[in-house]
Amino acid sequence: KKSEAWSALFSEPMSELVKRYTASVFFDQRLWRADIDGSLAHAEMLAAQGVISADDHTAIQRGLAQIAQEIESGAFEWKLDLEDVHLNIEARLTQLIGDAGKRLHTGRSRNDQVATDVRLWLRGEIDLIDGLLGDLQGALLGLADQNAEVILPGFTHLQVAQPVSFGHHMLAYVEMFARDAERMGDVRRRVNRLPLGAAALAGTSYPLDRERVAKTLAMDGVCQNSLDAVSDRDFAIEFTAAASLAMVHVSRLSEELVLWMSQSFGFIDIADRFCTGSSIMPQKKNPDVPELARGKTGRVVGHLMGLITLMKGQPLAYNKDNQEDKEPLFDTVDTLKDTLRIFAEMVGGITVKPEAMERAALKGYATATDLADYMVKKGLPFRDAHEVVAHAVKTALQQGVDLSELPIETLRGFSPLVGNDVYEVLSLRGSLNARNILGGTAPAQVRAQIARHRARLAT
Ligand code: ARG
Repeated sequence: KKSEAWSALFSEPMSELVKRYTASVFFDQRLWRADIDGSLAHAEMLAAQGVISADDHTAIQRGLAQIAQEIESGAFEWKLDLEDVHLNIEARLTQLIGDAGKRLHTGRSRNDQVATDVRLWLRGEIDLIDGLLGDLQGALLGLADQNAEVILPGFTHLQVAQPVSFGHHMLAYVEMFARDAERMGDVRRRVNRLPLGAAALAGTSYPLDRERVAKTLAMDGVCQNSLDAVSDRDFAIEFTAAASLAMVHVSRLSEELVLWMSQSFGFIDIADRFCTGSSIMPQKKNPDVPELARGKTGRVVGHLMGLITLMKGQPLAYNKDNQEDKEPLFDTVDTLKDTLRIFAEMVGGITVKPEAMERAALKGYATATDLADYMVKKGLPFRDAHEVVAHAVKTALQQGVDLSELPIETLRGFSPLVGNDVYEVLSLRGSLNARNILGGTAPAQVRAQIARHRARLAT
């Protein structure tokens, strides 16, 4: 098969090496449906405006429908020689319907075409991601609901701080993923604008109806500057930033799951179907899924760096640099979707071990703040109470006991304000129940939050 030159202007065919270097068809073919949808909307408008005939429009519809079928069935032959998804589809269209196929590109450039395709495709993916973020929140809510009363040592600096409800801890992640979904919704508004009509960079002399195309494609409006429309990829960067944050949230959860499943913590088990063994150590069961998710977070953050760097030195308007937006963007979408899907399932396979959690909470004087608060309520200024309790903790440490195990005489030795009722506040459950404030860890608050989230997700 002999290669041809690009056009009459060229005196020789493109070098084979350059052809491979510049081609994108092997990764951008995933834009095919968006490309066809964009072309159908463009052709419909061209016909309505009298730029092409009704017959040409009908032929284009017929041809594109056949191409869609060929691609879906795997019969379509993608050609490296035809560089990208756009030229592959257009060439096949012309092969099928002749001159009408050659008229499709009237008033259009690959520059506004590709920007439109990526936006259409990404819009669909954002909607899928929104659903997956909802599934994950639902799974976390289920786990929170089952374990609202379970006591977990809450940490700061990874040192035991105060007891919290395990359900409350899970709800913290629900908040994070809810914000991620909200961010995706914000990004979607700016993704969903139409570049078509910008043509190569300056607009076009044909009487195109850009608003009509936007409406056909269910877009929220048109890009208002042709140079900006074809050249900026800020929407892809913004999406990848939102995806990076979602992955960072998954990664933080992953880190906790890995720690909690280790023998030293023993707080949870992850169902076997999400774990792997060791080829040498027969006793091993490793939490590979959260570890891998933590690792893949680095990859997505890397894509964010790649895309933002891709943009920074580009003069207006379109430059071929922008072809490099696709692989990082596609991989970000794939990685995020797979990760959210697997986490939504894995969360349902987590077994909580309440005794181990409670034992750990008892080890770290987690109710010391409660003892200080108790004295404050009896009239001692907080800073003084803080100091008194520090002495009590020191004594308990020396004796190797919990605060609640110190006899009343010993406790009264630190402050005469201490009465027999002190032991209620020194229990983990008492501490938990006491934090009955909006956003706090008391099981009553946890239940209220679960109900609020469920109602929110149902709408
Ligand atoms: N494959 C190209 C891309 O992804 C399409 C636009 C090419 N435009 C051009 N003038 N070379 O950006």
